[in-house]
Amino acid sequence: MVPRLTCLANAARRRRVPERAGFVHMDVRDEQVERIVREFKPEVVSHHAAQHSVAIGSRDPKYDADVNVRGLLNVLDACVRGGVKKVIFASSGATFGTPDHLPIDERTPQRPESPYGITKMVAEHYLRFYRSEHGLDFTALRYGNVYGPRQDPSGEAGVVSIFIGRFIKHEGVRIDWDGEQTRDYVYVKDVAEANLAALERGSAGCYCIGTGVRTSVNADHGRPQTRRRRPRRAV
Ligand SMILES: NC(=O)c1ccc[n+]([C@@H]2O[C@H](COP(=O)([O-])OP(=O)(O)OC[C@H]3O[C@@H](n4cnc5c(N)ncnc54)[C@H](O)[C@@H]3O)[C@@H](O)[C@H]2O)c1
Repeated sequence: MVPRLTCLANAARRRRVPERAGFVHMDVRDEQVERIVREFKPEVVSHHAAQHSVAIGSRDPKYDADVNVRGLLNVLDACVRGGVKKVIFASSGATFGTPDHLPIDERTPQRPESPYGITKMVAEHYLRFYRSEHGLDFTALRYGNVYGPRQDPSGEAGVVSIFIGRFIKHEGVRIDWDGEQTRDYVYVKDVAEANLAALERGSAGCYCIGTGVRTSVNADHGRPQTRRRRPRRAV
């Protein structure tokens, strides 16, 4: 059975929302979020809305924190007042920064290097606080670099989508740093399965959602003659 669903987003993603689901075009920082939660009465809230760009967050940390922290707190307050049982939160591998050892797992220390990674880590702390203070359960899923159909190239794992788009047009690609930096690319269907599992499991847990396999940007594309190099960016 497909659970009842309402989506809250601020961009034109309406066409990707299943027909049977409700759609509310609203900013997560809007005070009206509480009214939506009270009216809809969800048992579980999946909080995926975010300022998701490491680059934008680095240029404008205040905006990043506003959406990713204040927006989260607005949603969590609405959940508490609306009697929600659990929040599933889209956290990130960016909370680890550059780890000493790979592959990362749940015991790896979090040392985020970008404002985006910082706000995602802070969010996990707030989730713990709301659970102990208000009994609002949570599961945080620290995604690796998610790729798959309909991927937005501006997101964290945009490289897969960008490279494929340029290869199709027989165009060269730009590689940041030396291309030997590795990421854990995880397929979007596996991420969806983790979210379904989190509906009933993973109480008060933060889980790494990835493959444990390191793939370099160079290995992603493997066409050396088309590279244009740029300096390293924050993670
Ligand atoms: N894609 C990845 O590789 C990846 C990796 C780690 C974590 N994440 C996290 O997963 C979640 C989904 O990311 P995605 O890559 O699918 O990006 P996405 O752009 O598809 O989803 C983010 C959504 O947030 C909405 N949004 C942004 N600001 C908002 C605001 N102020 N109010 C309401 N809605 C707002 C956007 O409209 C969009 O629908 C994000 O929280 C992101 O940080 C993604």
